[in-house]
Amino acid sequence: MNLIKLDATDSTNSFLRQLAQHQEVKDYTVVMTERQDKGRGQMGTTWVSEPGKNLTFSVFKRIKYLHKSEQFYLSMAVSLAIYDALKYFTIPQLKIKWPNDILSVNSKICGILIESVIQNGEMTACIIGVGLNLNQTDFKGVTNASSLKSITGVHYNKEEVLQKIIEETKKYEDWVAGRELFKIKEKYEKYLFRRDKPSTFKLQNGQLIMGFIKGVAQNGCLQILMEDEILKEFDLKELKLLY
Ligand code: BTN
Repeated sequence: MNLIKLDATDSTNSFLRQLAQHQEVKDYTVVMTERQDKGRGQMGTTWVSEPGKNLTFSVFKRIKYLHKSEQFYLSMAVSLAIYDALKYFTIPQLKIKWPNDILSVNSKICGILIESVIQNGEMTACIIGVGLNLNQTDFKGVTNASSLKSITGVHYNKEEVLQKIIEETKKYEDWVAGRELFKIKEKYEKYLFRRDKPSTFKLQNGQLIMGFIKGVAQNGCLQILMEDEILKEFDLKELKLLY
């Protein structure tokens, strides 16, 4: 791992993207920062993290083995790498909330934002941005958010946790390289939050629906068994799981 440590930046994803525009960036170049002033989340949201307390970092990863249509395997692999790293630190009741939030005891402790790097119309690499709440204990005004320390009472060393996540990411890169994609999907679905449990979802138009999460499609859509026994697929913009 080639680690770049910053005191402050707007967003580690943006920093790494700019770096890659100006110079050759090696695989597993990691940018981590103590303070992020314009942290970005999924679907145009912002990611807020108390300075100095948490892990906010981005990893540069070349795409070698995945076809365009298989990009969701990358997202699943990254979620699993973080899941396994947190398991190693004995974090309890871990789940992956589709598409890639990591929960512990039903609260979100980690968010992932993967962005593509396009060169000559081809996706050649990606920037994997991770916000993992480690030692922050005050989450006033943020619903369903927590941190490792709030859950276990233990203080975590940022670089130790980062090292473990990178180690686990490399393990899943080997799975991808070995075309063991079915194993990734199988494991991801096993850890999926509220799988096979009756759940309520809010659609884009505000309508509430009931259904059972069954798994994910190859394109990353969530598969829900509806009340009328029909399996439907939804993408991220279309619905929100209420919990
Ligand atoms: C989400 O759950 O909405 C995704 C949050 C991702 C946040 C991380 S923090 C490091 C990296 N830099 C960013 O601007 N965002 C990601």
